[in-house]
Amino acid sequence: MSNFHTIFEAAIQQLGGREAVQKLLSVGASALSNYRQRAQIPAAKRAKLEEALAAKGWHLDLEGLQLTPLSQARQQRILLLITGGIAAYKALDLSRRLMDRGYQIRGVMTRSAMEFITPLSLSALTGEKVYSDLFSLTDEAEMGHIRLARDADLVLVAPATANFIAKMAHGLADDLASTICLATDCPVMIAPAMNPNMWAHPATRANLDILIKRGAGLIAPEDGDTACGEIGTGRLADPQVIISAIDARLARHSAGADSPLQGKHILITSGPTFEPIDPVRYVGNHSSGKQGHALAAACARKGAKVTLVTGPVHLADPDQVEVIKIQTAKQMYDACMAQLPVDCAICAAAVADWHVVNGGQQKIKKTAKGTPQLALAENPDILASLSQHENRPSLVIGFAAETENLAEYARAKRARKKCDWIVANQVGGTGEAGVFGQDSNHVTIIDGDGMQDWPRASKKEIADKLVQKIEAWFHDHKR
Ligand code: CTP
Repeated sequence: MSNFHTIFEAAIQQLGGREAVQKLLSVGASALSNYRQRAQIPAAKRAKLEEALAAKGWHLDLEGLQLTPLSQARQQRILLLITGGIAAYKALDLSRRLMDRGYQIRGVMTRSAMEFITPLSLSALTGEKVYSDLFSLTDEAEMGHIRLARDADLVLVAPATANFIAKMAHGLADDLASTICLATDCPVMIAPAMNPNMWAHPATRANLDILIKRGAGLIAPEDGDTACGEIGTGRLADPQVIISAIDARLARHSAGADSPLQGKHILITSGPTFEPIDPVRYVGNHSSGKQGHALAAACARKGAKVTLVTGPVHLADPDQVEVIKIQTAKQMYDACMAQLPVDCAICAAAVADWHVVNGGQQKIKKTAKGTPQLALAENPDILASLSQHENRPSLVIGFAAETENLAEYARAKRARKKCDWIVANQVGGTGEAGVFGQDSNHVTIIDGDGMQDWPRASKKEIADKLVQKIEAWFHDHKR
């Protein structure tokens, strides 16, 4: 039987042993023994442990005393969109088989699908409410179409009619199912079923080409007799073929293999810089590096080649990331420039604006002459230099920490530094609003399209969300 001790030891093994975990949590050997003895881990350390395990594909549940592979930690959710063809009846068997396979199924039906099967039969099979109306007040109150679209790990359109494929290709959103296809940010798979002539028609082929280019997965129909009595290609793929395609797609997706960031080189700055006054003193700031490091980890999970240039922080190096440790702004600038060309740069560091030019080679001593007068000179601006470099990364993202006039200053900063996006946050308040050193963040994104205010979330969640936005950008700007 599992107890805290065995789960904790198993977690330590997965993370590469005691020393690795001490380094990860920035604690000594005695702290690990204390955690084990007390069967308790402080919240912040525990979050770090969970995050590192998740990056290695494990889910740590200390309440339930379980360490399980992420794939088994929860059922993956498939949103099944059934559109209106005779093959709609096959979606019932398909949904049951998908559930047997361990997936959780939520059904959405178009109006014409309901001419072939009833929502009641699907709902009886899946044990879930079946959705069909875009403008149902009760559905919107229970679960809006946006949440429905986002609350899935995969959207499966089966069967997909020629008409529905055309609507998807052209971005129409005149019913719930097509609106979901526009609103979702998870993988979409299409299993068409139609008359062989419709399948072969150049319009259908062109529409499918558009969808495949955008990243949708096609589960091609099979040859044989079709319901309309013609022989040719157009029968909905066998359920087993559909299930295998879904298994493979979800496995690739969770490994980041189908991310547009796969193989991209991303440069990230993080933490503060320390500008020496003399060999023992420096000018620094409160940046913890948590947001920059979380971004580096999130990009690496998507298969990007990540170079993290970081000032002094008390954080473990993220897995699968090249880490360059520097002290001063000038060193950070040199390290960043040496990395060019890169595909994307994210400047999350709180770079000191000035360095001391009349510091001491030796420790400055108190003398009768009075207080030393420090002279400062401006540091190079890394973000502005990257944005205006002849080898400019395709996407340059800056941060703006402001204590007042957030939107106005951040917009001006984006224009002045010529970066693509600014992630702005209010700093200087107390508690959570202070941001520096906290585990959560409240940010506003300013890009070419305007401003998006994201709700307060953990720095890891903000990193994941920003990486999704970066993925979408690279997806739309495929070269
Ligand atoms: N930045 C940088 N190099 C610098 C200063 C800032 O790369 N020498 C980057 C930061 O990493 C951040 C963005 O510029 O992405 C904004 O940093 P911030 O300190 O808010 O802006 P400042 O340039 O200091 O502007 P201001 O003094 O007006 O706040």
